[in-house]
Amino acid sequence: MKRRTFIKNTGLTISALPLYSATFQNQSYKIALVGCGWWGMNILREAMAYGRCKVAGLCDVDKNAATTARGEVEKLNGDKPKIYGDFRELISREKPDITIVATPDHWHALPAIMAMENGAHVFIEKPIGHTIGEGQAVLRAARLHDRKVQVGTHRRLSPHNISAMEFLRSGKAGKIIQVKAFVNYQQGAGTPAPDSDPPKGLDWDMWIGPAPWRDYNPGIHPRGFRQFLDFANGTVADWGIHWFDQVLWWTEEKYPRNVFSHGNRYIRQDGSDAPDTQLAIFEFESFTLEWEHKLCAGNLNEAHNVGCYFYGTEGTLHLGWRDGWTFYPKNKNKEKVHQNPTLHAPDHQNIKESWADFILAIEQNKLPASDIETGHLASNISLLAMISCKLGRSIQWDGENEMIAGDAEANKLLRREYRGEWQYPG
Ligand SMILES: NC(=O)c1ccc[n+]([C@@H]2O[C@H](COP(=O)([O-])OP(=O)(O)OC[C@H]3O[C@@H](n4cnc5c(N)ncnc54)[C@H](O)[C@@H]3O)[C@@H](O)[C@H]2O)c1
Repeated sequence: MKRRTFIKNTGLTISALPLYSATFQNQSYKIALVGCGWWGMNILREAMAYGRCKVAGLCDVDKNAATTARGEVEKLNGDKPKIYGDFRELISREKPDITIVATPDHWHALPAIMAMENGAHVFIEKPIGHTIGEGQAVLRAARLHDRKVQVGTHRRLSPHNISAMEFLRSGKAGKIIQVKAFVNYQQGAGTPAPDSDPPKGLDWDMWIGPAPWRDYNPGIHPRGFRQFLDFANGTVADWGIHWFDQVLWWTEEKYPRNVFSHGNRYIRQDGSDAPDTQLAIFEFESFTLEWEHKLCAGNLNEAHNVGCYFYGTEGTLHLGWRDGWTFYPKNKNKEKVHQNPTLHAPDHQNIKESWADFILAIEQNKLPASDIETGHLASNISLLAMISCKLGRSIQWDGENEMIAGDAEANKLLRREYRGEWQYPG
């Protein structure tokens, strides 16, 4: 395997947090949040805690979410941001310096692109698009408008992930030839709820936006959209992208050449349609990447319910989340090596470091650690798995040209028709 080098900007640690140039000490950013739900508010809270920001506008198609968010912003930052139900109005009226996009996946691309066209830097959630073409358009807009875009793959700023990369690159795990990324959550089957009228204050037509129409169902909003394929791409895109991003961070390769995935619904009966069980194999030039998620029994080491196993000639490194990382040497006379994580409440994340890195990137005119190109490449891996899974056959990915070789039917799935007035980003 080729010798690996650290990708620029990834050696940031918490000690980098207070570093900003004196020129920017009085700089305050006008911030807008599009999507004021669970994760959007986690990001905005860290932005306010970092300081030097005025929350200028909050946009949510669910008035209840936006109103709750405004109450919290007023309490934490003293701002009284205007509430919007349409991001186009928010962006054109407020002209934010920074826009956070934390909508469901099918609504990432258009607000992010419009924000950049209007001069904003963007903090966008993962996966960066619902289809690969959307990700390409977001990446293009970032480069065209010369805006900094930080993707919510905050594990690139997590102290234990940084030290795991150092360990792998030191060669202590030997030559890595296989990586298995996985999520095994022991959830039940669930019960479907009937479709109903949307709750008061929710603009369901705008929530659906460019996706195919379907009636409101409480299983979709809030948060449940992940398992509905019209709005997201299931667990492989919700969780898988975090681990695929780690694999791309470790390797010098940018994409797999061949992808095969099989998924099915064996357990879930909650009315959603994403696979509850899925396997994928991604063939890279110098190693093989596997993905697996399932709802039945987990791995035998129950501590490791999510993460990646890097299988090396000297042993196996498990890169996890709340369980940090652990190296299990092949030679049983050698000691295990372990590193605990440093994560923040709520929800055990590293948004604090990610936000600080984003502001540094803006002020020092450099790429952020989770730059949009890395987010695009990681999102692609998830989305390619879903394309293969939907087709029921393997696909050959021409990563240079971002096309599926010799497969017109598969290439159609790189984009999709938008509903009504919405235009697929060109
Ligand atoms: N990086 C991470 O670790 C991490 C963790 C959790 C969630 N996420 C991502 O954050 C995103 C949001 O997930 P969530 O769990 O917060 O969902 P959520 O349902 O709690 O919040 C999404 C909000 O977006 C609103 N919304 C929908 N369409 C909109 C539109 N057109 N304009 C404005 N608002 C709109 C919804 O009404 C809702 O309030 C997802 O893409 C998810 O993958 C990332």
